[in-house]
Amino acid sequence: MLPLDGHPRSERLLRAWEFRPGHDTDAATGWQQVRIPHDWAIYGPFDRQNDLQVVAVEQNGEKEQTLKTGRTGGLPFIGKGSYRTTVSIPDTAGRSHVLLFDGAMSNARVRVNGREIAYWPYGYNSFVADLTPVAVPGENRIEVQLENFEKASRWYPGAGLYRNVHLISTGKVHIPVWGTRITTPVVHDDYAGVALEIEVAGLAKHQSVDIVTDILDAAGNVAATGRNRYVYRGQRFTQQFLVNDPQLWSPESPTRYTARTRIERNGEVLDEYETPFGIRTLEYVPEKGFFLNGRPTKFKGVCNHHDLGPLGAAINRSALRYQIELLKEMGANAIRTAHNMPAPELVELCDEMGMMLMVEPFDDWGFRPKSPNGYGRFFTEWAERDMTNMVRAYRNAPSVVMWSIGNEVPSQWGPDGMDELVMLRDLVHRLDPTRPVTCGMDQIGAVLDNGFAAALDIPGFNYKPQYYDEACERLPQRMILGSETASTVSSRGIYHFPVTFAEHNQVLHPDHQSSSYDNESCSWSNTPDLDFARDDDHDWVLGQFVWTGFDYLGEPSPYDTDAWPSHSSLFGIIDLAWLPKDRYWLYRAQWNDRAQTLHVLPHWTWPGREGEITPVFVYTSWPKAELFVNGKSQGIREKATSGDPVQRYRLMWNDVRYAPGEIRVVAYDAEGRPAGERIVRTAGKARRLVLTPNRKQLTATGDDLLYVTVEVEDRDGNRVPTDTRMVSFRVEGAGAFEATANGDPTCTMSFQAPRMKLFSGAATAIVRSSQKPGTVRFTASAPGVQSASMEIPVVGE
Ligand code: GAL
Repeated sequence: MLPLDGHPRSERLLRAWEFRPGHDTDAATGWQQVRIPHDWAIYGPFDRQNDLQVVAVEQNGEKEQTLKTGRTGGLPFIGKGSYRTTVSIPDTAGRSHVLLFDGAMSNARVRVNGREIAYWPYGYNSFVADLTPVAVPGENRIEVQLENFEKASRWYPGAGLYRNVHLISTGKVHIPVWGTRITTPVVHDDYAGVALEIEVAGLAKHQSVDIVTDILDAAGNVAATGRNRYVYRGQRFTQQFLVNDPQLWSPESPTRYTARTRIERNGEVLDEYETPFGIRTLEYVPEKGFFLNGRPTKFKGVCNHHDLGPLGAAINRSALRYQIELLKEMGANAIRTAHNMPAPELVELCDEMGMMLMVEPFDDWGFRPKSPNGYGRFFTEWAERDMTNMVRAYRNAPSVVMWSIGNEVPSQWGPDGMDELVMLRDLVHRLDPTRPVTCGMDQIGAVLDNGFAAALDIPGFNYKPQYYDEACERLPQRMILGSETASTVSSRGIYHFPVTFAEHNQVLHPDHQSSSYDNESCSWSNTPDLDFARDDDHDWVLGQFVWTGFDYLGEPSPYDTDAWPSHSSLFGIIDLAWLPKDRYWLYRAQWNDRAQTLHVLPHWTWPGREGEITPVFVYTSWPKAELFVNGKSQGIREKATSGDPVQRYRLMWNDVRYAPGEIRVVAYDAEGRPAGERIVRTAGKARRLVLTPNRKQLTATGDDLLYVTVEVEDRDGNRVPTDTRMVSFRVEGAGAFEATANGDPTCTMSFQAPRMKLFSGAATAIVRSSQKPGTVRFTASAPGVQSASMEIPVVGE
């Protein structure tokens, strides 16, 4: 029987739930209405006591246990929480109903009408709970109990139903969740062969159905069609298609196709299922590197944790879209989902916007887990199931160009490491023969000696680019991926003096900030220049994934040892308020080949530093530039073509003495012609607030987000780069205040109260659209300066 709307398949998001701390799902009181995705811990308060960990971080070279503060963000995510809702299911006879959880943090137990139908420990993975056997016609009560343990993570995991929950209802005969696998075995300029493997549930042996598939191009035109009779005997069915004149998927031109499949019996449509995909080729060639659609391509990638800064782990498509926009503008072409499965929204957006993905499942295997209560406890029993769900969920996505099987797992040198590797690698190959398997390795000596690195399709090294040559020489693959690079630390707009460079320049400053001269790293890491040089000098270096694109909650290295209130990272190229640090332009100058970059640092407002050495750096795509301080030339600097990497990627005037006024930089092209100019002036007294929105309009979905940068300027329009005043926000009309952040890793102000102290003269306020069209008005005000406001239309879908 078809459901009321006449379609055999219906899929809906379950957004409205009630939440309550604890596991008493029968409690009469204490429930709070929430709209998921929901992260119960992001509301705080921050507290030093939250998940205090006494550990020795072996990976960082620590031998003694010490007190780690803020390691997982200092937020109250530990403990139990419950969610409940009811759904109306009109008919259950001959129907199949499943709940698809995109992720539930963590140790989820799902009960429907009082009976447990699923348990899934790993909080990052998608899983399916079949409610067909317990569903009743009418109202069905769904309860989810979650529990997070201490010492289970090295970063902020979030808490709750932080990703979406889907209710998928089909007929008895249907294509199950992740039930197709599409590959493009033949790709030429003028045609491509497409193979679609289909699984059909609900058939008895020898029963047959017709499988009808249209391949639709990006405009929705039918590019190929297949109709076949499928006689079921337990096997899957594969349809083959010829697509003429294929439009290939790439980060620059992310063209997608859709396979639309119908299962029919005697003309009756039993199910309809869509498989979005792309046509493209991946080749990883010894000594030559990576080729996408036949073109040599370097990974200009970033590693990202899953949290969305002040939104916590609660997934939001519009926030992810903004993240990808910022990364693409920097010239990045890839993301590594460190160190866990992504939200499906991220993968969809990478497909749509053009961003390659290395999808990674976990940070621990079974041997000597880094987090005592982390995934290591579940590895033996769950790894296969977790990997299977991950690969099945994302193997049709054109953005996914390789799978990782882990990060810096101590199994690299442990007794059973090779067995674990081979189990995971072969499982991935079986589920998806089209993409290579990598692993982020940090024990380079061990993995070269014991065969671990040689057993991967792609050897991925975390840090230590100085060992790449020897490694490549010894490895059978004859290529290296910088699976994790740099780990440079910096705080937006904070500069420390004197400015020095060293191989591992770990410096602790009393203000718990790291210098934005981009000269500081950790004892195991380095500045970006070294990795750029490796990429530029060797075809066999496939490129890199920088640690990290965005700052994240937790892991405030180097201020992680008894260093409260530090509680969020300093590794990001972009800070926790999603404001670019200077480093953004260092990468942009190197990576964005569509636009020129010319960026000057530091700011030029240094009362008290008159006459003191205040180096000026320029990050530019141009080969040389000249600096003028108050009109006086300080000489031309030109990028070196070899030698010290820092001299190759930055222009530096190290002896400049500060005098208030202006610094002006003129960039020159290769022929010595002036090509661009930047001026930075000493700011006067703060006069007014200024707002810069990231969008011109919002859509009335209730989920669309506007990011507004709030800064202060003097009467001449110069930004005041050191201002730290408190700013209050008001949102009226067709939207609501959502969250705020300033990017200061030591700031413990609430993300949800509509006020924030500026950090280095800036903060971000986030506004959520309403579900009704209209206009949203945003106002920022602060003592001593003129307030600012703006209006943005919120349009219907
Ligand atoms: C790596 C690790 C990352 C992060 C990073 C910080 O060793 O894989 O998760 O901890 O160091 O530099």
